Amino acid sequence: MRLVLLGAPGAGKGTQAKKLVDKFGIPQISTGDILRKAVADGTPLGKEAKIIMDKGELVPDSVVIGLVKERLAQDDCKNGYILDGFPRNTAQAEELDKVLSEMNAPLDVALSVDVDKNDLMKRLTGRRTCRGCQQMYNIHFSPPQKEGVCDKCGGELYQRDDDKEETIKNRLDVYEKATAPLIDYYGKKGILKSVEGVGSIDDIFNRICTILGY
Ligand code: AP5
Ligand code: MG
Repeated sequence: MRLVLLGAPGAGKGTQAKKLVDKFGIPQISTGDILRKAVADGTPLGKEAKIIMDKGELVPDSVVIGLVKERLAQDDCKNGYILDGFPRNTAQAEELDKVLSEMNAPLDVALSVDVDKNDLMKRLTGRRTCRGCQQMYNIHFSPPQKEGVCDKCGGELYQRDDDKEETIKNRLDVYEKATAPLIDYYGKKGILKSVEGVGSIDDIFNRICTILGY
């Protein structure tokens, strides 16, 4: 299954992607995670990306497209993958279509996770992420058993630098302007599906499985 997850910042793309990885055994390709790793490693790309990410703007298309192309060529993507946070605008979506058509392996589904804008701020300001395994928690909705410690791997939980109120506002604006038009883009291609992203994480996951036919 070759799947794109669409949705605003905080919609739960990463949360649901991790559950899909466990169920279907295909990898999650999160451009945000790849960029955050480059930032943590202090690479030249990471240094350039951090300035942009901290403002809530989009990293240049050429950079992320290059990262995704490289990732899609890896062996573990042969049976499918979950793209999370990519594509982010029409130019990225068109380039992805081009690459996948060259590989003779088009997308199966673009799944939009729909959450009301008013719910997103609390989800994002409350988010904590594990430095080790990238598992997400939320201090309001799904706290870890022990504060600051990952239930899964014992790693340290941290708050993302771009999960500050001002940056979140800009990320939501950027989403509306640049990314939301992709709902139409995939609708016209006939591969768009939508899921209501409000409720318990497990309920949403069950809805997604039903929508995907499992
Ligand atoms: P990225 O990392 O992709 O961030 P994003 O799109 O802003 O999305 P988030 O990761 O914030 O939200 P999510 O939908 O994954 O939600 P999550 O599951 O964590 O991008 C970061 C930056 O990198 C961008 O701003 C840009 O600069 C750059 N970038 C990345 N990709 C790029 C690209 N393609 N092109 C250019 N630049 C790019 O959940 C959020 C919180 O809610 C968590 O705490 C979670 O526990 C909680 N939660 C989840 N589900 C529920 C639920 N059902 N009920 C209550 N709480 C819930
Ligand atoms: Mg995410």
